[in-house]
Formats: sequence, C-alpha cells, structure tokens
Amino acid sequence: MPTTMPETLADGINECHKHAKGGSILLRNFHNQGRRLMADTAKLTYQGNTYELPVIEGTFGEKAVDIGSLRKETGLITYDPGFMSTGSCKSSITFLEGEKGILLYRGIPIEQLAEKSTFIETAYLIIYGELPTTKQLEDFDYHITHHSMVHESIKSFYDGFPINSHPMAVCSAVVGSLATFYQNELNVRDAREIEIAIHRLIAKLPTIAAYSYKKSIGQALPYPDNSLGYCANFLKMMFGTPCEPYEIDPVAVKALEVLLIIHADHEQNCSTSSVRLVGSSMCNLFASVSAAIYALWGPLHGGANQAVIEMLQTIADSGGNVKTWVDKAKDHNDPFRLMGFGHRVYKNFDPRSRIIKTMAHDVFENTISGEPLLEIALALEDIALKDDYFIEKKLYPNVDFYSGLIYKALNIPVNMFPVMFAMGRLPGWIAQWKELQGDSDFRIGRPRQVYTGMQARDYIPIKDR
Ligand code: SDX
Repeated sequence: MPTTMPETLADGINECHKHAKGGSILLRNFHNQGRRLMADTAKLTYQGNTYELPVIEGTFGEKAVDIGSLRKETGLITYDPGFMSTGSCKSSITFLEGEKGILLYRGIPIEQLAEKSTFIETAYLIIYGELPTTKQLEDFDYHITHHSMVHESIKSFYDGFPINSHPMAVCSAVVGSLATFYQNELNVRDAREIEIAIHRLIAKLPTIAAYSYKKSIGQALPYPDNSLGYCANFLKMMFGTPCEPYEIDPVAVKALEVLLIIHADHEQNCSTSSVRLVGSSMCNLFASVSAAIYALWGPLHGGANQAVIEMLQTIADSGGNVKTWVDKAKDHNDPFRLMGFGHRVYKNFDPRSRIIKTMAHDVFENTISGEPLLEIALALEDIALKDDYFIEKKLYPNVDFYSGLIYKALNIPVNMFPVMFAMGRLPGWIAQWKELQGDSDFRIGRPRQVYTGMQARDYIPIKDR
C-alpha cells in the first residue's frame, strides 16, 4: 500500500538517506551540490582478477559505481537495456525519490512551488538554480513576453501541414525551424546566444502550439497579447477570436500554472535523455528541444495523457465496466495496459498525480458528478490500488492519469495534451541541456553494444543466391 507522505521534507530526506544506505536507490542521475562525490569503492572479480571501481555519492546519499574505466581495465562493457540501473550524468537540477514520492526542483518541493509559485518563476529556478529576485523575475518575464511573436513567414508553414496533423509533429517541426530563423544563436558555447535562445523558446512555444490548434479548426492565427501573463496569454491565443473580447478565467489560469509547474522537470526521463544526447554532439538548443518533443510524443511517455482520456472514453463507451478493463490490463496475452499507471521510478505514488487529483476536485467542483470520465478514473484507481497485480508490480497513477481530465475541463483538445506536457517540460529540457553544455565531464554520448549478429562472411553474387 502507498507509504504515507513524510510529515516534513526533512523526514522524507532522512528516510531517503536510510533508504540510500541500503544501496537500493536506482542509479539515475547524481544530485550533487558541490558535495564530495567520492564515497568508497566496489570490487569486481572477473577471470581471477579483482578490480576496484570508485563509488560516488550524491547529495541525498544515492550511490553509483563509476564504470568509466571498466572497459579499459577489464575489457568488459555493461548491458542495461532501458537503463534500469544506469546513471547517465551528475545533475543539480531535480531530485526524485521514487519510494517516498519526493520531487524537488533545485531542492524545493514541487508541492510548495505548485502552491506558491508561477510557471515563469519556477522556470527561472530550474534553469538558473535559484529563485529570482524581483528584478530578475521582471527582466526574465519581460524578455519572455517580448519574444512571444514568431516570424511572420512561420505562419505559412501551417498552410503546408495536412489539416489533421498531430500537433506534436507540427510543434516539433516548427521549433526545429527556429534554428533557420536565428542562425546567430546556435553557438552552444556562447552564453549570450544561449540566453537569447532560451528566451525565444519559452516565449514562442505557446504561440507555436496555439497556432497548431487554431489552424486545425480553421480559425485565424492569433497574435500574443503582451498585457497578459504567460498562461492567460496562451489561453487567449487558444480560445479567443478577433470578433469579441476574451474573458480570462482565473481558475483556468491557476490550474494551467500548476499543471505546467509540476511537469517542468523530472530528471533523466526519456525526452530529457534525448535532449542531452542530441545536445552532446554540440547541437543547438532549438534542434535538441525539437528532438525532445518527438521523444515525449510516445504513448509510454508524454503521449500517455492523451492515451488515458482515450482509454477512459473507450471504457465509458463500452458500458463503464471498469473491472473488465483492469482484468484486461493484467492479462499478459492482452496488449492492453492501463494508461496513466506505472512508473519507472515512482513505486508508491507520483506526488504530481496527488497534486493534480486534489486540483481536479477544485476545477470540477460542481460538476464532479457530471464528469463521467472522472467518475470512471476514480473507480479505476480504486479497483487498481486494491488489486494484488498492481500492488505487487507497484503500479500507481502517474502524472498523466488525472492531468488529461483537467486539460479536458479547460476545453483543450485531447491531441493537444502532449503539447501541454511539452510546454511544461520545456524549462527542464533547457536546464538539462544547459547543464550538459557546461559539464566538466562533457563528452559526446556514444553507448556501446553487445553484437549478436552473423559471423564475418563473404558477399554472394545474386546469381548464386
Ligand atoms: C511519464 O520517466 C519519467 O520520469 C516519465 C514521466 C516524466 O515526468 O517525464 O514521469 C512522464 O512518462 C509517465 C509514464 C506515462 N506512461 C504511461 O502511463 C503508460 C503506461 N505505463 C507503462 O507502460 C509503464 O508503467 C511505464 C512505461 C511507465 C514504465 O515502464 P517500465 O518501468 O519499463 O516497467 P515495465 O513496462 O517493465 O512494467 C513492469 C511490469 C510489467 O509486467 P511484467 O513484464 O514484469 O510481468 O508492470 C507491468 C508490465 O507489464 N505494467 C503494467 C502497466 N505498466 C507496467 N501493466 C498494466 N498496466 C500498466 N500501465
């Protein structure tokens, strides 16, 4: 059963230390804050020789064997499909502890940021490492606001895409095209060029995203409104029209702020690992983020929030018998999975889904009984959390399980849900890419493999085949 949330963060971190001492924390990234990273050594015995490998320790006691010299010393490489036990980097940005459902951005719990911060302030924290002063936040917000328009010729791209294009394909293509418009901001070793590229990306992604929706419904492509905040401006671009004033709904703005904040970073997930790998070739930020958007699109990753709603709708359309679908998810011969359940790291609960679930009730307030998909989601969660299969495999609702219901309540179309995830995750991608570029251990990512193909053999002319 889910472990109760520690009373205080300190309790949680102490728990982490206890947990880490058992050496059982998954090796993902090293949350280091200038702390000594050398702890002790691990011994490997192979073919009668014993090798000592350094063990490094992160901020909260998570430990890793440094295998950088393994192949040179032993001739061995490691094999770890899906990187279940492999850390790819040391990082100071985000710490998550899956057993206790702890998620910190630069040391600050997301529960506090979701309650007290804004998305732009949280983006600043994640990218630059500290909460901004009033002046720093004003300057950052000014640059974001005044880069929100896209080059007029970008509008013609939308005429070329098929009307039913998925907005993730459109957004990734248009984000990648920014590298053609800003050719003087591609030097990954120039701090000023990186800074401007950061402003442009955060500022323009909402515009690019809104354009993909407006084009799909045949409406005019809007201009941003610099008098509005980040989230309000996005909602106005999505749902406003030139024909009448658009009334900003503060409940919708707050809900969007929280959703973007809790998606803002998540250490070395699939799309972030993609932005790091692409960036490791010294590829520019625009192209690296374009690759991350494509990686996020997959239904096992950021595409899950769309898949959850489609799954709930399928269950509703089939009569709403939730237990039938839970049984399908448990059947190994059935490819059906409960979308929005399970996580590579969280094995008790995803703290983000708890925040969203609480907010879902606030957003729906009077309509909670009127939202059939929410009722099905609650019933599905209730059954799954009591089912031995899900308990044994530690499958709990993840961030995508409830987020789609709120996006739906905000009238955001289902195929735009992964785009909302991308908008939220953008500061994390930027911060991780920027950290990589400045890493003293920087090198191009080039994994090894275990070759299992044919032995060497000669070419056979086609007449003899
Ligand atoms: C995100 O990494 C991140 O941090 C990601 C993310 C982020 O913020 O960046 O948190 C965002 O991507 C959340 C996850 C969204 N995806 C889904 O909701 C899709 C459904 N869930 C899964 O497919 C799965 O749980 C993953 C992809 C999330 C995790 O996959 P793992 O860690 O590789 O685990 P697995 O697929 O090996 O599953 C372990 C077992 C398997 O059974 P066995 O082979 O051991 O018998 O659990 C089963 C799986 O069959 N299982 C499920 C299940 N998820 C896993 N069974 C039914 N329904 C599910 N949802």
